[in-house]
Amino acid sequence: MDRHELLAALHARLQPRNYLEIGVDAGASLALSRVPSIGIDPGFAVVHEIDCDVQLVRATSDDYFRSHNPTEKFDGEPVDLAFIDGMHLAEFALRDFIYVEAYSARTSVIVFDDMLPRNVVEAARDRQTVAWTGDVFKVTHVLRHLRPDLVVLEVDTEPTGTVVVLLPDARSTALAEHYNDIEAAMVADGDPQDVPESVLGRTRAVDPYRLLQCAWWETLVAERQGRVARASLSEELAQQDWTELRAAALGVAPLPSASRA
Ligand SMILES: C[S@@+](CC[C@H](N)C(=O)[O-])C[C@H]1O[C@@H](n2cnc3c(N)ncnc32)[C@H](O)[C@@H]1O
Repeated sequence: MDRHELLAALHARLQPRNYLEIGVDAGASLALSRVPSIGIDPGFAVVHEIDCDVQLVRATSDDYFRSHNPTEKFDGEPVDLAFIDGMHLAEFALRDFIYVEAYSARTSVIVFDDMLPRNVVEAARDRQTVAWTGDVFKVTHVLRHLRPDLVVLEVDTEPTGTVVVLLPDARSTALAEHYNDIEAAMVADGDPQDVPESVLGRTRAVDPYRLLQCAWWETLVAERQGRVARASLSEELAQQDWTELRAAALGVAPLPSASRA
């Protein structure tokens, strides 16, 4: 499944009231939205037809969040669905998550693109390839390590993998408190990057089709709409056996990293 197909399926499954995107480019991912949307990109050049009420902001995400509150565009509602696909350096992607999470609810879903580079060259901080993930894959480890309260799912999408984050907490300060130290470590990592085998081989990644079939998506929507108790989603997620969703567990051996390039 392609990342845009996953995003389209999440729009359908979640029926978000709004959508926020960091990194618009030509508008291919923004074109999937039918709800009030915000697109942030200092260099957008939209060629895809857009079929939603959208605020396009020509700014970096740092500049945007310095002076904007996205919920003002969304009638005071938190961001329901966000796609982080801007600057492909780990510290930028981490800041983007911190910004978006501050305007999220427990039922918001935050998706990162380019989290499973296919080879080490593609993951370089200093861009050397046309298809470039940079080192944003590092954010997965940071979130798992500092935010065990989040559900962080690597998803086996083409071409360069996605991460879906569930149960964000707008009140959490853990990432912001450690940000300076994390950034210093990320920036100090010179190329070539030390990309874990689990990332290159996608051994932890869940199969997108199986992920989309999970029943707790309905609970997420019901909880957002106040039709079930507030803790329902957390309880269902706690019972999910994630290993059974893994792509590698489906009997399809992941390709060696060299042949994925
Ligand atoms: C990979 S493209 C986005 C593709 C788009 N999301 C899609 O799937 O169709 C990345 C975009 O991020 C933008 N970008 C780079 N630095 C950024 C930043 N600091 N804040 C927001 N966007 C940024 C670039 O201008 C580029 O258009």
